[in-house]
Amino acid sequence: MSNTEQTLSIIKPDAVERNLVEKIKNIFVKNNLNIKDSKKLHLTKDEAAEFYKVHQSKPFYNDLCTYLSSGPIVVMILEGENAVMSYRKLMGATNPKDAEENTIRKLYGISIDKNSVHGSDSLDNASKEIRFFFKN
Ligand code: CDP
Ligand code: MG
Repeated sequence: MSNTEQTLSIIKPDAVERNLVEKIKNIFVKNNLNIKDSKKLHLTKDEAAEFYKVHQSKPFYNDLCTYLSSGPIVVMILEGENAVMSYRKLMGATNPKDAEENTIRKLYGISIDKNSVHGSDSLDNASKEIRFFFKN
């Protein structure tokens, strides 16, 4: 039975800066994650803080928000079979050092904070995060 889902991807400032957007988009498409919408933007620190609100009690929250707002990002809606979990798997572990071979974070991540990509962690958060960036 098919289970088409949508999830939110962010190409973070470290990857945009290193001109990895087209390479990462090609990986998505090759892995049957179709790009339904895409835009480049630069968040303010307040907007980054709103986006990452679930992490507000974490020690890394402030640095995380400073980082996400430090330069342009590319946000995308990805659609495909089991897109939420299939994209999480393709992305790899949060810390690139722990990520499996051929995952995006293993290929391109620099460190736990500069780990190149974000992906929604559940279907519920995917729809919230898509609404955050693609309100109509
Ligand atoms: O992005 P992911 O869902 O894999 O990880 P998370 O636990 O939701 O954390 C969000 C982001 O915070 C990560 O992608 C890291 O960039 C950052 N982070 C960090 O800087 N230091 C940590 N110890 C954990 C996460
Ligand atoms: Mg997360």
